Amino acid sequence: MSNSQAEAPSVTTKAPAAQAASPVVAVRGLVKNYGSVQALRGVDFDVPAGSVLGFLGPNGAGKTTAIKILCGYLAADAGSVSVCGLDVATETLQVKQRIGYLPENNPVYTDMHVEDFLRFAAKARGLSGKAVQQGMERVVVQTGLAEVYRRSIGQCSKGFRQRVGLAQALIHDPELLVLDEPTNGLDPLQVVEMRALVRELGQTKTVMITSHVLPEIEALADNVVLIHQGAKVADGPLETIAAEHSGGLPVRCTVACTEAQLQVLLEESQATYLEKRHASFASAFDAVQSAMIEVDGPQGLAALAKAVSAKGYPLLELTPMGGSLESLFQGLRSGGLG
Ligand SMILES: Nc1ncnc2c1ncn2[C@@H]1O[C@H](COP(=O)(O)OP(=O)(O)O)[C@@H](O)[C@H]1O
Ligand SMILES: [Mg+2]
Repeated sequence: MSNSQAEAPSVTTKAPAAQAASPVVAVRGLVKNYGSVQALRGVDFDVPAGSVLGFLGPNGAGKTTAIKILCGYLAADAGSVSVCGLDVATETLQVKQRIGYLPENNPVYTDMHVEDFLRFAAKARGLSGKAVQQGMERVVVQTGLAEVYRRSIGQCSKGFRQRVGLAQALIHDPELLVLDEPTNGLDPLQVVEMRALVRELGQTKTVMITSHVLPEIEALADNVVLIHQGAKVADGPLETIAAEHSGGLPVRCTVACTEAQLQVLLEESQATYLEKRHASFASAFDAVQSAMIEVDGPQGLAALAKAVSAKGYPLLELTPMGGSLESLFQGLRSGGLG
């Protein structure tokens, strides 16, 4: 599979339009089973050049499996992955040279010094001579490691250890940076610092970052691929996904009225009934209805509030349950939506 792109003079960063057309990563029909567990059931997605892709899914969705295949550390059962036009299955070594990979749970050698570990990582990546020192100096600046440079990794805080992991991923100045749950296990301040670092790296590199929490992805990604039980559920820019699922704002509402009266209210405000809930103020009124409903975004919420107030029914609760992407994601986590 010798590919003319591989031999072409390498195009340096930000060569826009022509490059924008070909994604850095193209995943097609990816399938992986572990015995009877279907970890990936035919997943397709692209990572556009120069973008930050958020790979989002609940625990067990198949994110790490896809990442390991993409980085050349696990073979797929079916489907293909190309990275910078190279086939991961047949040109694994060349693909690895183009990827910086921070694995989940960042397995660094805690008994090594940061400096020695980075030198080791540089040599493992095939750097030699002056390039080793230059690479080390560059990543120490890029990841803010100067103050722990001569410490043993075991003595570093979790935040610094994670930076060491990031530094080894960057040592060969790869085109693509792949980070598997890089903020897992960090304290809130370290999370903020790590996000800032990733955001900065995203200015010059194509980045793919996985997470099982939505705010992480919202904070960092241009595009999102949402997977659930090994299958893709949504794909695209954050705003587009949110817009596609708009009209589906779930709301918890409790009104002192009869069931028939609530039905009329919902019809008047074009809300959809989802499920009946336990009515918390039942003893204080003749009739109380509590329900999960779905309204058409904030306008729908306003329409419902207006309809309730026009009838003069006591409104006891009206709580939007998060934005549209949040509700889609929560739905997946609770096994509600498909
Ligand atoms: N080595 C393995 N052997 C058997 N099952 C595995 C293995 N690795 C992952 N799985 C299973 O595959 C599914 C996807 O796992 P994983 O890719 O780690 O998901 P995620 O990273 O999204 O949490 C899960 O059901 C998980 O239990
Ligand atoms: Mg994982």
